[in-house]
Amino acid sequence: MQAAANLLKSAANVAVLTGAGVSAESGIPTFRSNGGYWQKHRFEDLATPQAFARDPKFVWTWYEERRRAIAEAKPNAGHLALTELEKAMPVFTLITQNVDGLHDLAGSKNIIKLHGDIWTVRCMNCGEERVDRSRLEDLPPRCHCGGMLRPGVVWFGEMLPHGALERATAAVRAADILIVAGTSAKVYPAAGLIPLAAKVIEINPEETPFSDEVTISLRGKSAEILPQLL
Ligand code: OAD
Repeated sequence: MQAAANLLKSAANVAVLTGAGVSAESGIPTFRSNGGYWQKHRFEDLATPQAFARDPKFVWTWYEERRRAIAEAKPNAGHLALTELEKAMPVFTLITQNVDGLHDLAGSKNIIKLHGDIWTVRCMNCGEERVDRSRLEDLPPRCHCGGMLRPGVVWFGEMLPHGALERATAAVRAADILIVAGTSAKVYPAAGLIPLAAKVIEINPEETPFSDEVTISLRGKSAEILPQLL
């Protein structure tokens, strides 16, 4: 921990890559660890364009359940520590795979959302995208043009939002340190950012495929380790 804190003290440009584990202490399930979504459901049934084409109501029902659960959640000490780190750093980029919006709520500013945002909806007919935090009653919801709306998230097999990976790659390459927190680092292209960094501090209660390669790997919850690190 001391070595990681010293590394961070010497940095002027920090990038952070977060995953579902960062929101675990806010009560939001992860995908692959205990109680995670992909232990109860098949992602092929819920998070692919094919699943949505087959049964949009089923997919939307799951997303709307998640939206209601996330609406009750508050940023935790890990999210807030990253907000403080951004204020303290000359250059700071937060790259997240999370779609829950808790980094925004915590006050982070320079965020790259690799997998979109569960609070946005996009029309499959006219392409309009907008924020909608309302309770969606009649599923699947419709656009004012009559087209079907879809969640503004990235599904398996889809491209990341335009320019997001390029900006994330540039930020990681330019950073003195990349902090990787709460991700299993199994989903690409996000995980492919990790080996691009000069130095990496990993924070995770469990080992990941990158734990042996990173500069420092800290075992623990991000809501505890991130505030301590700062
Ligand atoms: P995962 O569920 O794959 O991994 C969550 C990671 O968080 C695991 O490595 C856990 O050990 C760790 N973890 C659990 N509790 C934690 C805590 N309190 N503090 C810190 N870490 C903790 O989630 P992601 O890596 O985010 O994509 O998954 C990546 C992508 O796969 C998601 O964005 C989503 C998913 O399918 C799409 O839906 C496209």
